[in-house]
Amino acid sequence: MLHPVILSGGSGTRLWPLSRQNQPKQFLSLIGDHSLFQETVLRANALPDAQPPITVCADDHRFMVGEQLQAIGVRSGGILLEPVARSTAPAIAAAALHALAGDPDALLLVMPADHLIEDEAAFREAVSAARRLGDEHWLVAFGIRPDYAETGYGYILRGAALGEDSYRIERFVEKPDLATAQRYLDEGTYAWNSGMFLFRARSYLDELAQRAPAIHAAARAAFDAAHADLDFLRLDADAFAASPSDSIDYAVMEKTDRAAVVPVSCGWSDIGSWSSLWSVAQRDADGNRHEGDVISVDTRDSLVRASDRRMIATLGVEDLVIVDTADATLVARKDRVQDVKIIVDQLKAAG
Ligand code: GDD
Ligand code: MG
Repeated sequence: MLHPVILSGGSGTRLWPLSRQNQPKQFLSLIGDHSLFQETVLRANALPDAQPPITVCADDHRFMVGEQLQAIGVRSGGILLEPVARSTAPAIAAAALHALAGDPDALLLVMPADHLIEDEAAFREAVSAARRLGDEHWLVAFGIRPDYAETGYGYILRGAALGEDSYRIERFVEKPDLATAQRYLDEGTYAWNSGMFLFRARSYLDELAQRAPAIHAAARAAFDAAHADLDFLRLDADAFAASPSDSIDYAVMEKTDRAAVVPVSCGWSDIGSWSSLWSVAQRDADGNRHEGDVISVDTRDSLVRASDRRMIATLGVEDLVIVDTADATLVARKDRVQDVKIIVDQLKAAG
């Protein structure tokens, strides 16, 4: 059976000042009424014969997850709580152990909680292609046609065909430098890794045990010593903290020779920054995205988000991001918003 696993542990620092430590971006309603987390859960729930989704998140966010699940009326397949963040490799391992406890043939569909998918039908079709490969013990990634040299993504070079529109992965390169990303783009043979994966829980754990035994051992120990608390399963703090911090991309996908890719064209985007939000949002004829009480004159290609405290007016500017909240306001050039995390780091350092 297919068990969606919603990864919801990120902090989304680049969407400061809206996303904060206690309110990361996946829990915000950035586009539409639902949060990105809720959109992801609903997408998972709409898959044919999917089991209730398993969520893996930080201990601090447990009530937000519980409330947001309840608000959309989706039954939960378990909420696993991490005492500390150790990136995605151990988080997925804990979910795999949880799914295996009730289903020895469990197939996992790993879904980051901060993506938008416009064409859900195309997504569902790719998932069913991936299920066939997953049953044959492949670790399946979903390939997206790249449109610029993004350095924050993984890149996939496809190899031999495994079936209709599915391929072995020849090379998986996580977060290449800019020159390499540009080369991959120019070569035209690489896809972006979407960050979603499908595999048998068993296949993932076997590969993890081989490629990153310390992560495997720590996740196993943390799961074995976990204790239930209301609807939550609290992973053992000391055991989990002993895990090296690493992502599935570096720890497994770059190393395994059981990786496969299913290309998908489903209007996918990763809402990582204000500029990516601007690019997927509805804009007016001048290319502006306004939210709240905003007046703009001779303003172009900007994202302006007023809080309910005050109006924002812009005049004769372009390519800006302006985001106001109750206690902080961001004004940035749109091509610099990746560096919003520098501000957050400085705030953290200042305590
Ligand atoms: N539970 C949990 N615990 N979730 C986590 C943790 C953690 O410690 N760290 C990250 N996540 C969640 C994030 O909330 C996000 O939903 C997902 O896992 C992926 O983490 P990111 O930090 O957003 O990864 P990335 O964007 O740098 O890279 C990944 O996604 C790209 C596409 O968006 C990789 O898979 C890349 O290869 C891929 O191209
Ligand atoms: Mg991401």
